[in-house]
Amino acid sequence: MGNILSTTLKYSSISAAALVGIYACFLGLIANNFFQAHAVYLHAIQMTWFKDLNVPEIFGFLHNQVTPFSIKSSDGESLYAWHILPPELYRKNEEKLLAEPAGFVQDITSRLAFRLLQDDPDAVLILHFHGAGGTVGSGYRTPNYRALSAGRPEKIHVLTFDYRGFGYSTGSPSEQGMLLDGLAVVDWATRVAGIPPERILIFSQSMGTAVASAIINHFALESPATIFAGTVFVAAFVDVPTLVATYRIAGTIPILGPLAKFPIAFRYLSTFIRDKWLTGDRLAGYVKVNEAAGRKYRLTFIHAQDDYDIPWTHTPTTFHRAVNATVPRGITFEDLEAEKDIIKRDLGEAGTVVEWRTETGVLREEILKYGLHDVIMGNPIVTLAVMRMLDSK
Ligand SMILES: *[C@@H]1O[C@H](CO)[C@@H](O)[C@H](O)[C@H]1NC(C)=O
Repeated sequence: MGNILSTTLKYSSISAAALVGIYACFLGLIANNFFQAHAVYLHAIQMTWFKDLNVPEIFGFLHNQVTPFSIKSSDGESLYAWHILPPELYRKNEEKLLAEPAGFVQDITSRLAFRLLQDDPDAVLILHFHGAGGTVGSGYRTPNYRALSAGRPEKIHVLTFDYRGFGYSTGSPSEQGMLLDGLAVVDWATRVAGIPPERILIFSQSMGTAVASAIINHFALESPATIFAGTVFVAAFVDVPTLVATYRIAGTIPILGPLAKFPIAFRYLSTFIRDKWLTGDRLAGYVKVNEAAGRKYRLTFIHAQDDYDIPWTHTPTTFHRAVNATVPRGITFEDLEAEKDIIKRDLGEAGTVVEWRTETGVLREEILKYGLHDVIMGNPIVTLAVMRMLDSK
């Protein structure tokens, strides 16, 4: 008996030591750039394997409703993109669209779909910044495009693209590179398609919210500044170091959670994180510069409480960073939460909505009870978020 017990103890201490060792190796791996890039961006996980993105019918679109083409970044990468026509505009031009050849297009400006976007003075263009992993065609992204156009089915076009290293795009992802990708897409929208920023909206989800906030901040700080009609963030996170502390593989296994209890060790490890994506800082900067200049701006944050990829609590944290920047002397997170308890609309099973208005800015926070990490993208609240921005004074 005693023997068995001591043997068991011996083995359990060996396995505990082994676990600590494995975790240490894992932390070592995390400090490695190549591993980090794959863990953060998941670009190797295409989800649309064996499906040809140049055949959009496979993903549930009408014949020639989608024009596959590519956009060049300033540093020479080729970004694979889809221009998606809204359904009623498609119907009105169906015969002519059906007569055009299908598949990848070298010169998009030669296409009817492009001219329908370029020539309509009321057309709206949504620039779509998708999340980590997959391609323009994966998962809940396709119902998401439909939800975005649904409010004005003759007017709202969607431009979606794969960042460098994703899908058919060249290169490999990094914060610096993906910023250039975002700039290239905006440049295409404003200069090639000739759409003024008042008719451009930005939709982003998950990883894409980090890219989108960097892009809107970049254009707000330029002189002259460019301010888009509005930006929608679904499942945002405040920054990567905070995200890795709260991220759980498949919603159950915390990755760096154990380490987050040791702030010094955690801060040390954080210094190895290459791409930090400081969304909180960028949005604070964006709001501040718009408030100072008295410019109209619209931000909507949407998150579902049952999101187990990015905990929903990231959205109140991110929202606070933006709202705090509207208050000259700042407002603490706790004070804002108390204020929100007063102004919050409780929609029962649909969740809660907070709208924070300044003279020129509208910041909305919508916390849903249901919607997971990506099912939420096809929800009509996405359609309404777009319509509110288009109608807002
Ligand atoms: C909130 O705003 C104040 C004033 O601008 C600033 O000093 C403070 O650092 C901000 N807090 C956060 C969490 O961003």
